[in-house]
Amino acid sequence: MSEKELIDRLEEHGQEHIIEAYKKLDAAGKEKLAAQVEKIDWSIVAMAGHGDLAQERGKLEPLSALEVSEIEKNRAKYETLGLDAIRAGKVGAVLLAGGQGTRLGSDGPKGKYNIGLTKEVFIFERLIRNLSDVTDKAGCYVPLYVMTSDKNNDETIAFFEEKNYFGYPKDYVLFFKQEMAPSVDFNGKLYMEAPDSLSLSPNGNGGWFYSMAVTGVLKDIKARGVEWLNIFAVDNVLQRIADPVFVGATLDSGCVSGAKVVRKAEPMEKIGVLCLEDGRPSIVEYYEMTEEIINSRNADGELSYNFGVILNYLFRVDKLEEIMSAKMPVHVVEKKIPYINEKGEVIKPETPNGYKFELLVLDMIHLFENCLSYEVVRDYEFAPIKNKTGVDSVDSARALLQKNGVAL
Ligand code: UTP
Repeated sequence: MSEKELIDRLEEHGQEHIIEAYKKLDAAGKEKLAAQVEKIDWSIVAMAGHGDLAQERGKLEPLSALEVSEIEKNRAKYETLGLDAIRAGKVGAVLLAGGQGTRLGSDGPKGKYNIGLTKEVFIFERLIRNLSDVTDKAGCYVPLYVMTSDKNNDETIAFFEEKNYFGYPKDYVLFFKQEMAPSVDFNGKLYMEAPDSLSLSPNGNGGWFYSMAVTGVLKDIKARGVEWLNIFAVDNVLQRIADPVFVGATLDSGCVSGAKVVRKAEPMEKIGVLCLEDGRPSIVEYYEMTEEIINSRNADGELSYNFGVILNYLFRVDKLEEIMSAKMPVHVVEKKIPYINEKGEVIKPETPNGYKFELLVLDMIHLFENCLSYEVVRDYEFAPIKNKTGVDSVDSARALLQKNGVAL
């Protein structure tokens, strides 16, 4: 883009303050800032101030889950099917670790967080141990793809190196970076984080497959013959990864995707519920449902919308490729965004001061024609670490780990 085009574009979108900043830069700085501006999707920036998109929901219907009792009856069959697929190299795992973990308030990758009490127990280490439970049983390794972002990639890789990949073979671990998105103030003006750089942050966890394609990681998936990807969050330390019973049940169901779900603790629990929307699987938040829907019960007296997702999904790779270019909703989220002011001072706000734009993996489910809803027991498989204390915290996760016999 020529300098004139750059200036015209910024003017057109009311970003004159960026032009001023640009003019003060040397050639290298100008080039860097121009490259960032060129990548901006202005249709997304224009959503600032319009709130999170109030999606018009379609017709909601319950989606029954494969419940624990049923899974237990067929455990041996599912496990054999799953282990066979793993041994045939058809299953890969994707660790979503590009987030910034702002609620936990630790700088750097969340996976580096030490949750140990009498010894060091890092989140990444716990996840690798969980995966190793499966690979020990299968007698082979599962490729692990780790999504990072510009903000934490180098530190994440350095940590894995330093810890010798926690005993997992290095050639089965591939890192890739997700895309970044700009942040704006409440009036839609782009924030800057340095004199030559916009304030960029990871664009949410929904763009992971697109990022795999653009970074070339998809080629590795193809070369290895991986047919299914198990996507999971960094912060659930009880996460079962490449769980052969889940893989086997999904294969057996004939579905093209699967989602681990837990039974809701109460009707209004703040958890995305897996149901059907216009006949396709969909994840709907409690605040998007009417009270009548939330409280509706089936013939057994159970809540009809009773199962919430825990960010552990299985997706068929060929289907992911088909939907890769499909448009996903952009969520406009109020956040605390560090920035530099006109004087060049770094400001770290105490309260939200603008918007970030995010794609979410939960919106992906609706792009699949079907999804196996697979129930797991919360206390065995769901210990998310979002906060330092209280709900979904380091404290609650520690208690659950100890309940599951993990020494801390
Ligand atoms: P969260 O929604 O909890 O976000 O991520 P976060 O960034 O980790 O934490 P907060 O909201 O700032 O406190 C759920 C999962 O999605 C990943 C996270 O790393 C976590 O595994 N994620 C999130 C990404 O990989 N990229 C993103 O841009 C956002």
